[in-house]
Amino acid sequence: MVFKATFKSKPNDVLLASSIKTGSTWLKAICVSIMQGNKEEEEDLLVKDNPHFHVPTIEVMHSYSKTPTHDVYTMPSPRLFHTHLPYRILPNSIKNSNNCKIIYITRNPKDTIISMWHFFNNRKRLEDLSPLEEVVENFCKGVHPYGPFFEHVLEYWEESKKMPQKILFLKYEDLKIDPKKEVAKIALFLGKPFDNEEDLEIVLNKCSMERLKNLEVNKSGSIFSHIHNSAYFRKGVVGEWKNHMTPEMEEQLDKITKLKLQGSGLEL
Ligand code: A3P
Repeated sequence: MVFKATFKSKPNDVLLASSIKTGSTWLKAICVSIMQGNKEEEEDLLVKDNPHFHVPTIEVMHSYSKTPTHDVYTMPSPRLFHTHLPYRILPNSIKNSNNCKIIYITRNPKDTIISMWHFFNNRKRLEDLSPLEEVVENFCKGVHPYGPFFEHVLEYWEESKKMPQKILFLKYEDLKIDPKKEVAKIALFLGKPFDNEEDLEIVLNKCSMERLKNLEVNKSGSIFSHIHNSAYFRKGVVGEWKNHMTPEMEEQLDKITKLKLQGSGLEL
């Protein structure tokens, strides 16, 4: 509420937005790399700290940080920050600005659920694990962090169709299938198109799951008091839900996905 009431956007602000477990860490890393340009290993920001340090998530910044990360109110321009908030809750100053850009990333709901299930269970004792049936049930009812998943996605989707120059809408699966195309799209949107294919490949390699997962800062560090950095890098594959969900869960989720997205032109 304070953020909504007090935040003033600046012309070259870039806000990354996502529902949880849809690829925010990867998108943060890619944008940090593009904005930083080609740097040697010792200057590479991703080597120095986790992407969540460099791109603060507004609503968790002050609640959980062990050490204060960058403050969006005081960080220098061009500001790169992130939120899980639904579009409708964003400050008007961001929504009404023609120059402040938003990049939204979403993911197949079934993989999102499995990713979230692992992420939350990671911190629980074996006897406290939430049954997947219950998680799927709640998801279908719209009980989800930051509000119902489909409404979250559809709000950004509809706004991106109205204002494609302001909101870039991405899918995790597209990034996995054709990373070069998607990363080139992000760079162009940020006003930093690649001069050559080699620079594009450098960014892709710097942000690959294998590299980020194995950086010392992500193997042993934690920027939040309650989450280890390694928890942000798990498998990073498409279709992992098949190893966990029953045909009943699949059917339930396919049905609600079809119902919610019908007529929108969006497929997940
Ligand atoms: P899985 O749990 O399916 O492995 P978020 O960053 O929004 O929390 O999303 C987390 C998901 O993104 C996790 O998916 C994680 O493994 C995956 N991920 C993190 N970094 C990635 C990268 N560099 N490339 C691909 N996937 C990545």
